[in-house]
Amino acid sequence: MKIRLALITSISVLITCTALLQPNNLTAQSSLTEAQIHDKAASLLQQMTLEEKAAQLSQLPGVPAHEFVENAGKPPEEVLKQFGAGSILWVSDPKEINRLQHVAVEQTRLHIPVLFGLDVIHGYRTIFPAPIAMASSWDTKMVESVQTVAAQEARAAGIQWTFAPMVDIARDARWGRMVEGAGEDPYLGAAMARAQILGFQGKQIGSPDHVLACVKHFAGYGAADGGRDYDSSYIPEEEMWNVYLPPFKAALDAGSGSVMSAYMDLNDIPATGNRWLLHDVLRDSWKFNGFVVSDAFAVRSLAIHGYARDPADAAYKAFTAGLNMDMASGTYLKYLPMEVQQKRISMQQIDDAVLPILETKIRMGLFEHPYIDESRIDATLNDPAHRQLARTAVQRAVVLLRNQDALLPLDKTGKTIHSIAVIGELGDAQTDLLSMWGALTKPGPTVSILQGIRDKVGASVRVDYSPGPNLRRNIPSPFGDIAMFANMKPKPTQTSEEVQQSIQDAAALAGKSDTAVLVLGEINFMSGEAASRSSLKLSNSQEDLLEAVSALGKPVILVLINGRPLEISWAAEHVPAILEAWYPGNEGGNGIADVLFGDVNPSGHLPVSWPRVTGQLPLYYNHNLTQIPETSPNFKSRYWDVPSTPLYPFGYGLSYTTFSVDHLNVTPSARVGDKIEVSAEVTNTGDRTGDAVVQLYIHQRAGSASRPVRQLKGFERVALKPGAKQTIHFTLGKDELQFWSPAEKKWLVEPEQFDVWVGQDSTATLHGEFKLTE
Ligand code: BGC
Repeated sequence: MKIRLALITSISVLITCTALLQPNNLTAQSSLTEAQIHDKAASLLQQMTLEEKAAQLSQLPGVPAHEFVENAGKPPEEVLKQFGAGSILWVSDPKEINRLQHVAVEQTRLHIPVLFGLDVIHGYRTIFPAPIAMASSWDTKMVESVQTVAAQEARAAGIQWTFAPMVDIARDARWGRMVEGAGEDPYLGAAMARAQILGFQGKQIGSPDHVLACVKHFAGYGAADGGRDYDSSYIPEEEMWNVYLPPFKAALDAGSGSVMSAYMDLNDIPATGNRWLLHDVLRDSWKFNGFVVSDAFAVRSLAIHGYARDPADAAYKAFTAGLNMDMASGTYLKYLPMEVQQKRISMQQIDDAVLPILETKIRMGLFEHPYIDESRIDATLNDPAHRQLARTAVQRAVVLLRNQDALLPLDKTGKTIHSIAVIGELGDAQTDLLSMWGALTKPGPTVSILQGIRDKVGASVRVDYSPGPNLRRNIPSPFGDIAMFANMKPKPTQTSEEVQQSIQDAAALAGKSDTAVLVLGEINFMSGEAASRSSLKLSNSQEDLLEAVSALGKPVILVLINGRPLEISWAAEHVPAILEAWYPGNEGGNGIADVLFGDVNPSGHLPVSWPRVTGQLPLYYNHNLTQIPETSPNFKSRYWDVPSTPLYPFGYGLSYTTFSVDHLNVTPSARVGDKIEVSAEVTNTGDRTGDAVVQLYIHQRAGSASRPVRQLKGFERVALKPGAKQTIHFTLGKDELQFWSPAEKKWLVEPEQFDVWVGQDSTATLHGEFKLTE
């Protein structure tokens, strides 16, 4: 029965995914050819005043932002009426969007529509699992479908531009924004970047029911010193090319029409004024012809960084570095015209920067269809297929980290378990399951984990709840006071007596129950922007709660809600079952219950190396070898207090069934420029249907530079019935075999000996080798 259900679910996912990819023509693309688009933009440019051009290079804040008014000298709407605007951000009310668009189209001299932008990161109304969770699915088709729906909902409600995907590689879980990306690996990161661009934009920019994507934050933001958000990154050029840039390149190859520059200093030059990034890499090497927007207020911030002398110099430095649009700081608006008058910037440079913005608006169909049909929004936002896809996404994203003695799946019939205690503030949370950006848009109702479990077991099992201690940051989030995040309110601080009492109450409930499901981790504001932490320990006495409940000797299941790996070394030894659910979105409770009770077999795999302790960070599997590698028998050179290996390796994830991978076949040798074929057979050796994620890693043994001990270069997710086998084929071509050599300062495929491993995580042992020759 359970197997049948899983099969039905997979089939319906496929049907749903295919159906969702068919646009329903709520919004239409431009009817013009590329040449006509260019001509129209060029002719508009000829009619524009310098101030109107500066306005097109500006994104106006749609919510009060005093920095903007201070710089621009007038409120955004006055600017809009007088000069128009390139874009407006943070407005999510469709009525307001239509109203402002009417102002732009009907009240400005040249009738140029506004591009409305918002952070639609993992859903607009239907909130899907956070990006790190989506990456855990290793399911690019599903991720594309998810972002197709996100685009459809956003576009129906008037948002034409999303500030996503975030593709920053994150190797340090102290950095709060790990949650917004695909984790630590450039290959998986590139695959997720590509899938998201295709989902957001469709076949091409301007596809009906899609939005313009904005790959961010260009580049190196995830390498912030000490994991402290916004702090400087120091990344050597080879690491930029080999690790941090590939997901951006993949997003641009997939057609991303815009790029957002990052906040931080990259090698002492702020990314928003960094000509190497914005010009040499983006325009010269990659031939990008879309436009670049700064991160919010980042142009003005160039002066705060100590890079620009004053706001005028900030505008000059950002603009001449290659940045087209100033997000919200009003700096371009005020100073670019002055820079032109003073002849530091030419009109031609201004025109070159405005052109791609106008072209994009035309390509998006905004001139032909500037307004949204408000009467059709609800039908799109409330499409039940979207909720179904959200539930499937949760089912595919959760990662089973531990399952001693097959404690999971739980029995829902009431035969062996009569009562369950759900424990922890996050067990009954809703908004906290959405992550920060999910709470910003117009989220639909969220199914809590408590509700999901109750709905699953019905009257057969008693389900009680105890919240345990309140969760809150000791230094509150700076976003807490912003109206846009008003639905994210942490609970009050408790006295130590109250905390102890809450733990005792929870333990008492667990003592009366057959099984305890502890839901622990991080509330919304604990991960995301401005949410770095120095320790990954379970905060707010959650570890005490876990140990107190575990001491009762009842079966305990730990469900983690969080945006990054947490320190769970004690749990990894003492808690029999651990399920990583990340921030699962609106359907979190249902999807998690589906997995806990075995209607779905978990299949997620970690997109990050999971540290044992915070002190191991930064931690990543694709590090170089040392003179004394981990495998050395006698002389250990790493930490003396903990093993240097992760608690759970990159790529790791359990299932309720088991898989074996064997029969590895590798082309033994090939000439540089030719391809290497690899195949291996995966078998479901257990008694349940499940999805395996087969991963391929390589290592180049010598060359013009030391190469990482392993690098992911292929993966495939396959569904297998018990006993079923499938041969998986991988091809290693130039893209997989090349690296940017610091010795030669270019991309090279080198005639060397390589190792190959295929298996179910980055510690795979099934080994082969091949040689590349001249
Ligand atoms: C974030 C960006 C986001 C922008 C607009 C900034 O604070 O760093 O990721 O897209 O705000 O909301």
